Amino acid sequence: MMMKSFLLSFILFFLLLLLHTPSTSSSVLPVCNHQDNSNLLHFKNSFAIHTSLYWRCSSYSNKIASWKNGTDCCDWDGVTCDTTSGHVIGLDLSCAMLEGEFDPNSTLFHLTHLQQLNLAFNNFSNSPIYPEIGDLESLTHLNLSFSSFGTHIPSTISHLSQLLSLDLSGNYELTLDELTWSKLIGNTTNLKVLVLDPIDMSSIRETSLSMLVNFSSSLISLSLSYTGLHGKFPSSILGLPNLEELSLFGNRELKGELPKSNWSTPLSILDLSFTAFSGQIPDSIGHLKFLNQLLLPNCQFDGLISGFFWNLTQLTHLDLSWNRLHGEIPSLLSNLKHLIHLDLSFNRFNGPIPDVFDNFTKLHLLDVSFNSLGGQLPSSLLDLTQLSHLDLSENQFTGSIPRKNVSLSKLETLALNNNFINGTIPDWCYSLSLLIELDLSQNQLTGSINKFSSFSLESLFLSDNKFQGDFPNSIFEFLENLKYLDMSSNDLSGLVNFSHFSKLENLTYLDLSDNKFLSIDTNSDVDYILPKLSRLHFSSCDLTAFPSFLTRLENLGRLDLSNNKIHEKIPNWFNDNLLHKWKSMDIIDLSFNQLQGDLPIPPARIEILSLSNNNFTGHIPSTFCNATFLNALILSHNHLSGMIPHCLGAFPSLNILDLQVNNLHGSIPTNFSQGNQFQTIKLNGNQLEGQLPNWLETLQELKVLSLRANKFYGTITTSFSAKHPFQKLRIFDVSNNKFSGPLPATLFENFQGMKDLSDDSTHQPPGLSYLNNSRSYRLTYNDSVVVTMKGESIELVRILTTFTTIDLSNNMFDGEIPHVIGELSSLKGLNLSHNKISGIIPQSLGNLTSLEWLDFSWNQLEGEIPVCLTNLNFLAVLNLSQNHLEGMIPTGKQFNTFQNDSYIGNPMLCGFPLSKSCSNNDEEAPSVYDQEEESRFGWKAVAVGYGCGMVFGMFLGRLFIKTAKPLWLARLLCGYSY
Ligand SMILES: *[C@@H]1O[C@H](CO)[C@@H](O)[C@H](O)[C@H]1NC(C)=O
Ligand SMILES: *[C@@H]1O[C@H](CO)[C@@H](O)[C@H](O)[C@H]1NC(C)=O
Ligand SMILES: *[C@@H]1O[C@H](CO)[C@@H](O)[C@H](O)[C@H]1NC(C)=O
Repeated sequence: MMMKSFLLSFILFFLLLLLHTPSTSSSVLPVCNHQDNSNLLHFKNSFAIHTSLYWRCSSYSNKIASWKNGTDCCDWDGVTCDTTSGHVIGLDLSCAMLEGEFDPNSTLFHLTHLQQLNLAFNNFSNSPIYPEIGDLESLTHLNLSFSSFGTHIPSTISHLSQLLSLDLSGNYELTLDELTWSKLIGNTTNLKVLVLDPIDMSSIRETSLSMLVNFSSSLISLSLSYTGLHGKFPSSILGLPNLEELSLFGNRELKGELPKSNWSTPLSILDLSFTAFSGQIPDSIGHLKFLNQLLLPNCQFDGLISGFFWNLTQLTHLDLSWNRLHGEIPSLLSNLKHLIHLDLSFNRFNGPIPDVFDNFTKLHLLDVSFNSLGGQLPSSLLDLTQLSHLDLSENQFTGSIPRKNVSLSKLETLALNNNFINGTIPDWCYSLSLLIELDLSQNQLTGSINKFSSFSLESLFLSDNKFQGDFPNSIFEFLENLKYLDMSSNDLSGLVNFSHFSKLENLTYLDLSDNKFLSIDTNSDVDYILPKLSRLHFSSCDLTAFPSFLTRLENLGRLDLSNNKIHEKIPNWFNDNLLHKWKSMDIIDLSFNQLQGDLPIPPARIEILSLSNNNFTGHIPSTFCNATFLNALILSHNHLSGMIPHCLGAFPSLNILDLQVNNLHGSIPTNFSQGNQFQTIKLNGNQLEGQLPNWLETLQELKVLSLRANKFYGTITTSFSAKHPFQKLRIFDVSNNKFSGPLPATLFENFQGMKDLSDDSTHQPPGLSYLNNSRSYRLTYNDSVVVTMKGESIELVRILTTFTTIDLSNNMFDGEIPHVIGELSSLKGLNLSHNKISGIIPQSLGNLTSLEWLDFSWNQLEGEIPVCLTNLNFLAVLNLSQNHLEGMIPTGKQFNTFQNDSYIGNPMLCGFPLSKSCSNNDEEAPSVYDQEEESRFGWKAVAVGYGCGMVFGMFLGRLFIKTAKPLWLARLLCGYSY
C-alpha cells in the first residue's frame, strides 16, 4: 500500500518536472533588481554560519553560500523575484544556520518589495527587531520564529497592514506592550495566522485583549501560549467564522469560559491547557464537526459532560485531565473511534468504564487515573492493538484483570495500582514484549507471582497486595533491565539470597518490606557489588543485625531498616560508610529496632532521620549540627540524655523535631530562628525546664506543639513579637508541667488553625512525601494526642489531620476561663483539668460545636453548667467532676449519655444522672446567675433555656415570649460569643 502510493507520487513528480523545467530555465526567469542584489549581498556579509542545529528543522542548508557577487540573485537559494520587475519579493532563510546580530541599518530593510520574509530557526543573538521592519509595508507573511530575537516588538510592526501571517513565536526574550498590541490588532485586518507564544504579553490588560473580538473575521489560527496573558479572555473569539486553531496553553491566570452557542464551525484544534478557564463544557461543543484536538487539561472545568459531547467523532486528541468534571462516561464514548490520545485523569468521573474499545484501532494512550471509576475492567481494553500507555490507577475498580487473547503488543506502561482488583495476575501480563512499567500495587491480588518474560521491564510494582508463595526468583534470570522493584506488603515467603540482586545491574530501587514469611539471606560470600542500588527498603524483614551487604552498596541514598529486630550498636563500618561512601544519603529510617549505644553519625545531606523507638543512650552529639538539610529529625522513645543541641533551632528547613520520651534536660534552645519551617515540635516526656520561650509563637508554620510532661514553669503570655502568633496551630499540649498564672487568652485569640477549617492549606496531612521518580517515599509519621477517659490516659495515634486539641491540664493555672475559647470552632478536644481555674463556665463554649472531648475536672469552677453545652452534638466525653458547680445538670441530646463520674465531687449539682434530684427551687436554677451577669442580661437565663437547650419547657417559653426579642438574643447567647 505504502509502496504503491510512493511510486505514484514519484511518477507524478517526475512528470511535473518534465513539464516545468524548460519554461523556468530559459525565457521567464527575471533578472534581479540591481539594488536588491546588492542589498542581499550586504545582508549576507553581516552574518556568520553557525553549526548548532535546531531540532525543529527537518533539514538545514547553508542557503546564502549560493549568494555570489556577479550572479543573478533570482537564482539564489531562498530568494524569489517578481517575474516582471525583478524585485525580490520573497526571502526564505529558515533553517539557514545564520548567526550574528542584526544591524539597525541592515540592508534587509531596504527590500521594500518583500512580501514574504522567513528568518525562522536562526540565531540572531537577542538582537532587537528594529523599527525599520515597519518599512516592509508589502509584507504578507512574516516569520521570525525561534531566531533569538530579543527586547520588545517595535510599534512600527503595525505598519504591516497587509499581513496575512505573523509568526514571532519561540523568541523567549521578546515582549509585546499594550500600545503596540492595540495598533497591530487595529491595522492588520486581514491577518489569518497570528502566533506569538511565548512572548511576554503580561502588560496587556483585559480591555486591550478584548480588542481581539473586533478582529478581522479572516483569522484562522491564533496561538498565544505562555504569553502571561491574564484577565478574562473574550469567549466570542471562539465564534470567529474562520477560526480553525486556538492555543492559549500555559496562561495560568487567564480566565474564560467556553461559549454556549455561536462556535466557530471550522474549529479543529482548541488548546486551553493550564489556563484558568472554568465553567461547564457546553452541549453546543458537540456541533464542532471538525474538532480534532480538544486539550483542556489543568483548567477549572466542572460539571457533567452532556451526551452531545460524544458527537465529536473527529477527535484524535482528547485531554480533560486535572479538572473537576464528574458523572459517568457513557457508552457513547464508542463514537470517538479516531482517538489516539484519551486522557480523563484527575477528575471525579464515576461509574464503570463502558466496554466499547473494540473499534479503537488508533488509541495510543488511555489514562483515566485518579477518578472514582468502579466496576469491572472492560475486557475490550485488551483489543487495543496500538495502545502503548494504559493507566487506570487510583480508582475503585473491582473484579479481576480480564483474561482473553490479548492484542496489546505495543503496551509499554500498564498501571492498575490503587484499586480493589482481586484474583491472580493473568498470563498475558507476564509476556508483554515491550512492557517497561507494570504497576499493580495497592490492590487485592492473590496467588503466586509467576515467571516474567518481558525483558524490557524496568519498573515492577506489586506492593500492597496479597501475593503468596515463593519470591519469584525468575526475575533474576529474565528482568535484567529492572530498575525499580517493589514487592513490599505482601505475604511472600521463601528465602531470597540477596547476592542474586547483583544480576540486576541497573537496579536502583528495591523494596521487600513487610512480607511476614520472607527471609533474606544477607550473608553470602559471593563477591558482588550493586553499583546503582540507591534506595533500599527492608522494613519488617526480621533482620537481627545490620546486613553486611550494605557495604557493597556504593551509592546508597535511602535506607529503611525500620521495624526489625536489630539488636546491636551501630557498627563502626556503618558510621564509616555514612561519613565517606554514602554522603548523598537523604533518608535513614532505623526506627522500631533495639539499637543501643550512641546515635549514628548523620550524613551531611540527610533530610529525614528517624531513629525512634530504640534503646539509644548518650547525648545528641554536635555532629548533628552538620546536618543542616534536615527536614525531619525523629529521635523519640529512646534513652537519650543531655541537652538539646542549640544548632537544631537554626536549621532552615526542619519541619518535624520529635524528641519525645527521652531523658533530655536543660531548657529549649533560645536561638530558634524566625521564619523557619517548623510544623511539629514534640519535646514531651523529658526533664526540660524553664519558661516557654517567646520565639515559639513566631513559628508561622507550627501545627503541633507538645511540651507535655516536663518541668516547664512560669506564665504563658504573648510577647506580640509575631503578628499572628501560632496561627496554624492545631495541637497545643503543655499539660503536666508547672505553668502558672492566668490561662493564655491572647494566645487563644490567635489560634486561627483552630477556627477555620475551610482553609485547606492549614490542614495538610502531616508527614512528608518524597518523589523518587515514579515512586514516592512517605514517612509514616503520625501526630498523636493523649485523651484522658475514665481516669486512664489513652494515646490516640494516627489521628485525623483535622484533629485540633488544647491540653493545659495538670498545671497551676488560675483565674477564669476566657470567653475567646468559644471562637475556636473546630476544636475537638479541650482539657483544662487539674488546675486552679475558678469562675463560671462561659456561655461561649456552646459555640464549640465540633467538640468531642471536654475535661474541666479538678478545678474551682462554680455556677451552673450552661445549657448551651447541650448544643455540642459530638461531645462524647465530658468530665466536670471535682469543682464547685451547682444547680441542675442540663438534659437532652448528648447530656443524656453522660454518667455520674462526669459530675461527682460537685455537691451542689442535682438532676440526672445524679441520684440527687432537684427541688422546685433548683428547677428555676437558670435565673440564679451571679449578680453581675444578672444585671447585664436581665432575661438571659430564659433565653438560654429556650434558644439553645429547649430544656425548660412551657413556662420558660411563656416568659420568653414576653421579652419579645427572641431570635437575636438566642443567637447572641448561643450562636456567637459575647
Ligand atoms: C560586487 O562586485 C562589484 C564589482 O566587482 C563591486 O563593485 C561591488 O562592490 C561588489 N558588491 C559587493 C556587495 O561586494
Ligand atoms: C545607521 O545609519 C545612520 C545614518 O545613515 C548612521 O548615522 C548610524 O551611525 C548608523 N548606525 C549604525 C549602527 O551603523
Ligand atoms: C496602518 O497601516 C498603514 C499602511 O501601512 C500605515 O500607514 C499606518 O501608519 C498604520 N497605522 C498604524 C496605527 O500603525
